[in-house]
Amino acid sequence: MLRLFLRLYLFLMLPATAAFVLFMYVTDQVMVQLHAEEQRARAGVAFDRAERIITNTRVPDWQGRLKEIEKTFRVEHQIVPLDRALDDFFMSPSERERLRVGDVAFRDRPGGGAVYLRRIGQTDRALRIEWVGAYEYLTVYYAIILALVTLGLCAILWRWTHPLWRDLESLKAATARVGEGDFGVRAQVGKASLLKPIADAFNVMAGRVQALLQSHRDMEQGVAHELRTPLAQLKFDLELARTSADAGDRELRFTAMERDVVDLEELVAELLLLANLREAPPYNPQEVPAVQLVDDVLRRAQEEMRATGRSIAIDAPRHLPESIACDAKFLSRALANVLRNAVRYAKSRVAMTVERAGSHTVISVDDDGPGVPPGERHRLFEPFTRLENSRGRDSGGVGLGLAIVKSVAEWHGGEANISDSPLGGARVSIRW
Ligand SMILES: Nc1ncnc2c1ncn2[C@@H]1O[C@H](COP(=O)(O)OP(=O)(O)OP(=O)(O)O)[C@@H](O)[C@H]1O
Ligand SMILES: [Mg+2]
Repeated sequence: MLRLFLRLYLFLMLPATAAFVLFMYVTDQVMVQLHAEEQRARAGVAFDRAERIITNTRVPDWQGRLKEIEKTFRVEHQIVPLDRALDDFFMSPSERERLRVGDVAFRDRPGGGAVYLRRIGQTDRALRIEWVGAYEYLTVYYAIILALVTLGLCAILWRWTHPLWRDLESLKAATARVGEGDFGVRAQVGKASLLKPIADAFNVMAGRVQALLQSHRDMEQGVAHELRTPLAQLKFDLELARTSADAGDRELRFTAMERDVVDLEELVAELLLLANLREAPPYNPQEVPAVQLVDDVLRRAQEEMRATGRSIAIDAPRHLPESIACDAKFLSRALANVLRNAVRYAKSRVAMTVERAGSHTVISVDDDGPGVPPGERHRLFEPFTRLENSRGRDSGGVGLGLAIVKSVAEWHGGEANISDSPLGGARVSIRW
């Protein structure tokens, strides 16, 4: 804190002081130049008076007289050798020349006032009059002004750096905790803090990482859980097949094992698809003929229905745009998942619609099934999440279908959501 404060202070104070001193110096010089002749004339009168006293032999106590003048006019008189007077380091060459020819020469007096010099007659001595005047306390005034400015600046800087420092410390502590793996921590800064945008961005980032880690953990747990069931079943069937003496019974066990292997294959395929989507290159849309895409998806749904023995009427979209900008491979996979769900839960009817709203495309699949309660809609897009009534082995899959739909929609730069269908069941839409 102190270092930051001192650095800022020096950074601001040094130029401010330099500017202040320069300003005073320049003003002083300008004033001197403006009033140089006036000053010389006034000093001339003082020199005449002093010289009269010094050279007048009828004045016995001339030093005493000079002292009186010194007191009255706040000046100091001194008789100095001309050589020494000409050696004055602070005097400009032009003023020295004036001194040499017997004119009034002057220079600034450090600390305020002026020093005047004039040769006494044609002698090798000069009279030096140092005028202290009102400038006597100038240095003190300057010092007081500078001290006040310094203190004022100090107070302003402290007022400014202290909260900034506090916020920086909070941000630093939060960053350190995140570095140690605690992603639940959030940086706390004041509402009006300069660091608020950084702290907000940091908190959003920490939140995202936390959510990501959580979803990874859920995913791991889900995979382990979903693998365990068919594997246990497989082990059980294998054991029974080995010990069974009846050929018919053994055949039944082998069929069950085949089903478990297919389940496992499907799970692995879906997991691979999700992983592929996460690793997918940036989305590069292609204009795909809408009829071809929709027909392909509907045909596959019909084939699946035939295989599973279900019979649900699927209404194809009435209006279709000429083409759809998408990635055909991933989108048809997502649509197939949505249709499969709809067919699985519908009582008798499923309908598909394709709409173009400006630059957006919305594909919806409606069904007349039980629908999805509003509170559950969002979470069904997470991997391995199913509604209570779909947990049975026969009524549902593993719960990856909608997760894939969501990933595909997001990869297309859009979103997927569930709402109420006019048919009475659920409407699942992909919008991008
Ligand atoms: N049209 C729908 N009507 C009612 N419930 C639905 C519908 N679509 C999905 N669901 C519910 O959402 C859950 C998740 O669906 P999702 O497609 O992700 O998984 P799944 O169908 O169970 O398995 P998978 O698709 O991996 O074979 C389903 O188990 C079901 O409970
Ligand atoms: Mg599904």
